[in-house]
Amino acid sequence: MNYLDLANPGVFDQPMYIPGKPLYAVAKEYGLKIDAIDKLASNENPFGPSPKALRSMANALDSVHLYPDGSCTELKEVIANHLSLSSENIIVGNGSNEVIELLGHVFLRPGLDVVVGSYSFIVYRLVARLFGANVIDVPMDDFKHDLKAMRKAITSNTRLVFIASPNNPTGMANHRSEIIEFIESMPEHVILCFDEAYAEYLEELPDLVPFILEGRNIICLRTFSKIYGLGGLRIGYGYGNPKLIALLNRVRQPFNVNSLSQVAAIGALSDFDFLNQCKKANNLGRKRLVEGLSDLGLKVYGGSANFVFVQVGQGQALFKKLQAKGIIIRPLDSYKLPEYIRITIGTESQNERILTALEQEF
Ligand SMILES: Cc1ncc(COP(=O)(O)O)c(C=O)c1O
Repeated sequence: MNYLDLANPGVFDQPMYIPGKPLYAVAKEYGLKIDAIDKLASNENPFGPSPKALRSMANALDSVHLYPDGSCTELKEVIANHLSLSSENIIVGNGSNEVIELLGHVFLRPGLDVVVGSYSFIVYRLVARLFGANVIDVPMDDFKHDLKAMRKAITSNTRLVFIASPNNPTGMANHRSEIIEFIESMPEHVILCFDEAYAEYLEELPDLVPFILEGRNIICLRTFSKIYGLGGLRIGYGYGNPKLIALLNRVRQPFNVNSLSQVAAIGALSDFDFLNQCKKANNLGRKRLVEGLSDLGLKVYGGSANFVFVQVGQGQALFKKLQAKGIIIRPLDSYKLPEYIRITIGTESQNERILTALEQEF
């Protein structure tokens, strides 16, 4: 049987997400020890998982024979409390990526448009394409979302607009006043997905809760994969208009979030010492990388998250050279940014190591 003939036609046009190479594969290819590799490619927390999350998971191991709470009842209460909202405002996903896909299930179909920034997080366009929707690419303004141009791109066919602030991979954030102006000008048939994956690293947050409470069509995304250090568990959440959240709940898997992730997230949310330490170290690390990279004559966008975006000339070639030395960064060809790379801010020694390696190249 030729399975190619059986597949839905869209399958062949679906672009695929290319994740960073796993540590195991890099170690094997270059004959390196896994411990000797610095992975600065996926904006993970270089200080590891939240210790409180680890303790919560250890206590929950004996119960993994039971299905998880399919509604994430306790976790939603904790998140709601954290945001001064109620549980009906919250949906928990298998990573915030799952919430993006749920938005597609509910709201997208062929003929509808999704408005995105030209260098925005790739999953937005993958999901739009998965559901046959058109991707309307809006050029960015010095690697930041051009919200005025995005507003102009909205038509009667637009169903979803994605804004990440700070944006991945460019790291640039929009000012609160611009975001509010955008929200206030949004027509009723459009849903804004405001992605706050790096919120905990910011000094100032736009705070869209008042707009959510007013009943606007907004869902904000957060994740436990970044500052909380739980990327491997796959857990993130959306908070927004309860009517919108109720629709997303209709299309998710009954047990989409496993029980260890749920307790880990509850622990992590109150791990304030860990969060403060990570944020402080990230700020120092960013300063060090921006200075060090600028001293090498490179154009650096420090942004406000846990990574820097750097113009290096040939991103792919540099990626390969660094990888052979046991340092993994992110080349950005898949974002149509072949001259740029993204470097996750590491520990002090990781930051020094990559700067030393780059001194040999520039
Ligand atoms: C802007 C943005 N949104 C969403 C995600 C996905 O996060 P999660 O691991 O929760 O699926 C990422 C991950 O890198 C991101 O950078």
